[in-house]
Amino acid sequence: MRLRLRNRKRQRPGAAALGAALFLAFALPGAALAQDVARPAPERTTQIRGDARQPVRAKDWMVVAAHPLAAEAGAGVLRKGGSAIDAMVAVQLVLGLVEPQSSGLGGGAFLLYWDAGQKKLTSLDGRETAPSAATPELFLDDKGEPLKFFDAVIGGRSVGVPGTPRLLEAAHRRWGKLAWAELFEPAIRLAEEGFEPTPRLVTLAGEAAESLSRQESAKTYFVDALGAAVSSGEPLKNLAYAETLKLLQAGGADAFYAGPVAESIVGAVTRFADNPGVMRLQDLAGYEVKEREPVCAAYRVFKVCGMGPPSSGGVSVGQILGLLAPFDLAELSPDMAATWRLIGDAMRLAFADRGRYLADTDFVPAPIKGLLDPDYLAGRAKLLEGDGRLENVEAGTPEWDHALNFAPDAAIEFPSTSHFVIVDRDGNIVSMTTTIENGFGSRLMVRGFLLNNELTDFSFASHEDGVSVANRVEPGKRPRSSMAPTIVLEDGAPVLAIGSPGGSRIIPYVAEALIAFLDWGMNVEEAVALPHVANRFGTFDLEAGTRAEDLAPGLAALGYEVKVTDLNSGLHAIAIGPDGLAGGADPRREGVAIGE
Ligand code: DON
Repeated sequence: MRLRLRNRKRQRPGAAALGAALFLAFALPGAALAQDVARPAPERTTQIRGDARQPVRAKDWMVVAAHPLAAEAGAGVLRKGGSAIDAMVAVQLVLGLVEPQSSGLGGGAFLLYWDAGQKKLTSLDGRETAPSAATPELFLDDKGEPLKFFDAVIGGRSVGVPGTPRLLEAAHRRWGKLAWAELFEPAIRLAEEGFEPTPRLVTLAGEAAESLSRQESAKTYFVDALGAAVSSGEPLKNLAYAETLKLLQAGGADAFYAGPVAESIVGAVTRFADNPGVMRLQDLAGYEVKEREPVCAAYRVFKVCGMGPPSSGGVSVGQILGLLAPFDLAELSPDMAATWRLIGDAMRLAFADRGRYLADTDFVPAPIKGLLDPDYLAGRAKLLEGDGRLENVEAGTPEWDHALNFAPDAAIEFPSTSHFVIVDRDGNIVSMTTTIENGFGSRLMVRGFLLNNELTDFSFASHEDGVSVANRVEPGKRPRSSMAPTIVLEDGAPVLAIGSPGGSRIIPYVAEALIAFLDWGMNVEEAVALPHVANRFGTFDLEAGTRAEDLAPGLAALGYEVKVTDLNSGLHAIAIGPDGLAGGADPRREGVAIGE
């Protein structure tokens, strides 16, 4: 295959639209991927809706979130004139109740926000931090060997100081319109009156029952109360969560970071006998949300903007697109192995740089500008020319005025997490990815919410051959993330807001959906439903039960290792166009788009 190199104008639907449509038409056969239980206990795909749905369309406002009750809470706020940030607070508080395995008060989040009045993007970092007593040996055993992943996850050791409550408050103080207390009402009401647990929550809690039973509070709620609700058909109540919400409603985020809630968190973390952590009250009291410079990459006529460090999301998605910019993807069909050879190797190049360079830049320098420099990427893109697979993929040498070099990272990531997008009637936009890391986080429950295991996003190994790893644990540091809340601009105006869960596969999921929308002319619903084809470290992951499986022989013939597997995204997107808003919710999860 010969690829023509040229700059392409925005062209939708693209010349590959027919191929894209065919690829999609066979993509969703309704085969429940629930049977794929190869992976232990992370939050995996529990359903694939079989209908190739159309986007939800609206004129004034829209919210797309992973659970209908959360989306409805946001819609209620927007309906009565609240801002996108007001709706964000309401959505997050309800998600913490109805999708507790994925995000909540005990976790962290990244918010990318478009202020329509100022025409300005801002990103807020509400990432969990390592306690001040954490050391680079946190995840090493007595012999200096990395712990097994789940030995590290379950218990207090993996719990980072939560950032989500401070993030909600910081964003609301800057951009909220409605009263803080009012935004708590939907979640408090649902927690007190109860809600029907979704099949996803029931399935995942069932699979995690053993680990959830190691702590009394988690067992009481997720095994006993949830089990009783399912067998009786009664709504599931979470009165402890309602009480916590009332404390925050009255006292703001301070009621979380000091006083009885903080004491309960520290108690749960440090007194978990099997695997205690080192968090102290002063770690909670000192937690800060940080405003970060959004990271933007030019892609064709667009500017693709996202979250910078401590997330690798914005840089890596930007690198993938930058590497592909010289190639005319619109001419290539998504049902050809050759197309994914090109995209997959671009992903591999981006992941090699990510592993070497990206971590919390408050602790280690990173060549962010150099990694996204068009000349650097054009040079690396030359490696992609021709028809063959890249044999060896190594980190590049972007321009950098720093002498430090880092060893490749050794972090392990498993899925949970949630992404939601909101547009309000003034055109303000929220693109927020929110997490407690693994499904059910550390499995420690405190006052009605789960504590994260985000510290396992650090590299367990602190050094390799005497060279330190950029993403090693250090006191007060934030673990490297892959979360990629994204907003795409064209001529300075937003055209798309998108993001996904998926651990480090977030980066390929978001990059693929962007290519589907920007190059292949798919609508948002088609773009988020596109079968996943991802390559991070050499092996091609093809989404089981979808047409992506058909690519296996072609990719194997190119010399790639191929793995057909469950690929659990939760892509949620809103397209903003001259005719209004179009929302897409990932058919692999339980989310919906609501708009008016
Ligand atoms: O911050 C991160 O990149 C991960 N802790 C996110 C985890 C995740 O997306 C799991 N997803 N399904």
